[in-house]
Amino acid sequence: MPLTVAIASDHAGFALKSEVIAELKKLGHEALELGPTDTSPVDYPDYAVKVAAAVTQGQAALGILVCGTGTGMSITANKVHGIRAALCRTEFEARMARGHNDANVLCLGQRVTGAGLAAEIVKAFLATSFEGGRHAGRVEKIRQVEAKR
Ligand code: RB5
Repeated sequence: MPLTVAIASDHAGFALKSEVIAELKKLGHEALELGPTDTSPVDYPDYAVKVAAAVTQGQAALGILVCGTGTGMSITANKVHGIRAALCRTEFEARMARGHNDANVLCLGQRVTGAGLAAEIVKAFLATSFEGGRHAGRVEKIRQVEAKR
């Protein structure tokens, strides 16, 4: 099923973001590109919140964020209510993040993960559905933690 995927980066993730957008299109998905438009230095939190908002407001089914390591993007995105962002460096982590954690944002690090592997991670993330079952109660507990904040 074609998905709309919100995607953004900072300057350190800009090149990988372009590769990921090409992969999204190849897979038949729509990329909602939220910047930046060049490699001028920017602050990753400004872009993490754009993708988080697109996902929580329903403009996109899922989000992808790319910075140098993926760490800053994941820390920021996970501060937004309703976001479960996963920093993935392997296909296995991407499958588990969707299947077990119902992650709705994938974070990647351009300085860590090459374009070929990133494409496989993206493919796995988008192709995997939340398994529910025993995992549903655990994700509900995440929501309860969030509700107290
Ligand atoms: C930018 O230099 C770098 O700090 C940023 O892209 C990211 O890796 C932060 O987590």
